Amino acid sequence: MTDMLAQIKSLGDQLRWAASLEALPIGTYSEVLCAGMGGSGISGDYAKAIAEPFGTRVTVHKGYGPLPPWADRVRPLVVASSYSGNTEETLDFVQVAHEHGLPIATVTTGGQLGEMASRHGWAMVEVPGGFQPRAAAGYMLGALLRVLEGAHSVDDQRLSFVEASDLADEELTEGSGSWELAQEVAGGLAGRIPIIYGGGPVSGAAAQRWKTQINENAKTPAWWSLLPELDHNELAGWEAMPQKTTEHLGIVALTDRDDHDMIGARLAHTSDLTEDAVPWVARVGSRGTSVLARLISLTIAGDLVSWLLAESAGVDPVPVTRIERLKELLGGTAS
Ligand code: PA5
Repeated sequence: MTDMLAQIKSLGDQLRWAASLEALPIGTYSEVLCAGMGGSGISGDYAKAIAEPFGTRVTVHKGYGPLPPWADRVRPLVVASSYSGNTEETLDFVQVAHEHGLPIATVTTGGQLGEMASRHGWAMVEVPGGFQPRAAAGYMLGALLRVLEGAHSVDDQRLSFVEASDLADEELTEGSGSWELAQEVAGGLAGRIPIIYGGGPVSGAAAQRWKTQINENAKTPAWWSLLPELDHNELAGWEAMPQKTTEHLGIVALTDRDDHDMIGARLAHTSDLTEDAVPWVARVGSRGTSVLARLISLTIAGDLVSWLLAESAGVDPVPVTRIERLKELLGGTAS
């Protein structure tokens, strides 16, 4: 599919596809290592926010091997996610995990990861192809969650899938409140470098997604930071260049009900203390009940903002030429 907006709008259907997958009996794991990069890797960050309330520890690994030193002792389930199946860091990491005899499951359209899974008999969810990896977030996250269900690392997610996919359909309908909000936020950020703040497991994971979607879709720099940590460093950084930062940057704060009670007060004081240095463009709160739905609502807002920023700048959101060029330079296969 070459139209990014159509890909974004299919999020509800992608989640429904994942919900309809046969159960995958994988064993019982309360330690999970999610490996993946970029648009595939974010599903590990989201899975962490969803699984940790069930007492499962999720470690997100974005890079090559080696294994974290504790993995030989703890024997986590490794879930390798790569939409193309050809991402060299993920392939390297999963090969090392295999050499250490760790249990492995994979989420991919195929590629070399799919071949390795078939060869070694690893559990594999084959997701539909034809999307940009970052626009297949519903497939990748949904399939990863079904793997975690099969590993008894999370409880039955059926109700969350229904809530999240319905919410996605509603919010992605043009003219919805989310569209209006995204238009306002994109208007406020136009011509600026976005800085996205989050302050909890859901808002923090979504802040990372906003940043990467703006990078890849709108082709602009963007950064994300977490409260309360940023109040111990970044807050001071808004002091010395107020003219430049006022002119060129803009903050969007994401909030969620699992943010610590103090985060609201911190946001209020942090914005007061920095208002002379940077416009606080918007606060965007999550919607929904389940963690999955709340993540999806913030994801949709960010995806739409990234798409609108691309549109207003006359940029094609689909190709990520530099990422593919780098993969070629390193000798890999572009996704
Ligand atoms: O969204 C993208 O295109 C990238 O962030 C890719 O997801 C990233 O380069 C990793 O590739 P893959 O998702 O195929 O493993």
